[in-house]
Amino acid sequence: MGLKEVSSDYTVSLHYDRRLYRQDIEGSIAHARMLANQEIIEHSDATAIVEGLNRIRKDIESNKFPWRPEHEDIHMNIELRLHELIGEPALKLHTARSRNDQVALDMRMYMKEALSDTLDALHGLQWSLVQLAEDNTDVVMPGYTHLQRAQPVLFAHHMLAYFLMFGRDKSRFNQAYERADVMPLGSGALAGLPYPLDREFVRRELGFARISENSMDAVSDRDFMLDFLSAASICAMHISRFAEELVLWSSDEFDFIRLSDDYTTGSSIMPQKRNPDFAEIARGKTGRVYGNLIGLLTTMKGLPLTYNRDLQEDKEGLFDTIDTLIPTLTIFADMVRKMSLNESRLLDAAQGSYVLATDIADYLVSQGMPFREAYRVVSTLSQQLSETGRQFHELTLEEYKTYSPLFDDGVLRITVESSVNARNVPGGTSSESVSEAIAIAKDQLERGNSG
Ligand code: ARG
Repeated sequence: MGLKEVSSDYTVSLHYDRRLYRQDIEGSIAHARMLANQEIIEHSDATAIVEGLNRIRKDIESNKFPWRPEHEDIHMNIELRLHELIGEPALKLHTARSRNDQVALDMRMYMKEALSDTLDALHGLQWSLVQLAEDNTDVVMPGYTHLQRAQPVLFAHHMLAYFLMFGRDKSRFNQAYERADVMPLGSGALAGLPYPLDREFVRRELGFARISENSMDAVSDRDFMLDFLSAASICAMHISRFAEELVLWSSDEFDFIRLSDDYTTGSSIMPQKRNPDFAEIARGKTGRVYGNLIGLLTTMKGLPLTYNRDLQEDKEGLFDTIDTLIPTLTIFADMVRKMSLNESRLLDAAQGSYVLATDIADYLVSQGMPFREAYRVVSTLSQQLSETGRQFHELTLEEYKTYSPLFDDGVLRITVESSVNARNVPGGTSSESVSEAIAIAKDQLERGNSG
């Protein structure tokens, strides 16, 4: 490629901003109607413009539109094609408008749709988590700290932790939606426009909540994209943590779950393998989601007001995050629906370690021993048991009593189930608290999309 081609390609954005065609056309139709209502252009011109734009939309959707990269972007491609189709009236469409407020409008419209789709996808994932929790309310597993078995918990309690993380994500995406929901047309290149515009009409036509309050801010603000990209990064981090657990849990070492064959693949050389590729790829994609946030933050950081062409670089990363996040959430919703639990293995893991140590110490406290002393007694006890490979439930009361005279037969009734159910505080892992949490979660989901 010669320098001439390289440099003419350099400024072209058509290959990625083509996807804004629908927003661009809807925005132009509302603008043309407003211009006619305000007697800035003739009604007959507006009618010709609207018909021409509708034809262009059809042509694009049936792959008949003659895309021309030499016209740089989606806005010029549509406007110049409109001129070919309807002639002179097309020259009036761009009255009282600049590509600066036009692209801001298109991106806000696109962002709002993507945010609604993201919220729907999160909603679906939350349902899958709550259903998995509800179908397995009696399954006990070891809870971990430092990736060491710590205390028994209900599997459902663990799933509801993710339900809440995704709920916070929803509330962040809802806030991003509110900030995107501002109609910038009427700002012109930067200073507003010397025409009697009816900005409220355009706002209503396009379904925005508010109009922008400062033309300079309106053409240079990309915060609404950063809101989305940062909420998306936090959400991707949640997905990645969950993915990591699914990878661990489906390994032979844990063997807690089985992922559906739909979401594992074999190895080309090791016939026994069922690799959790979907979870791994989701974990891996978190990197590009973070990258797109840092990319746009960096693009923005040195820009003087108002519009600078750098802003054209806001699109590819944003589209990439949308194209990454929504399918990931959709896949996870189905992967969660289709995974099965190895209940006996989960219970064995909860029983086959010293996860009841805290409960035995708490029991001594209930018998009148100060906690720190109880901690020391049970610590010696578990250490000696682990040296001989024995478990708490194998000890007799007489053996217990050699560690403290305060032990009586109550200690023999401490089990993983009693441990779980003792934690009957709001937010705790007892069956009662978790059933209540499931009911609250379902109620929230039934009431709709809000965080
Ligand atoms: N393709 C441009 C963008 O995405 C449209 C706005 C162009 N404005 C301008 N003054 N050159 O930002």
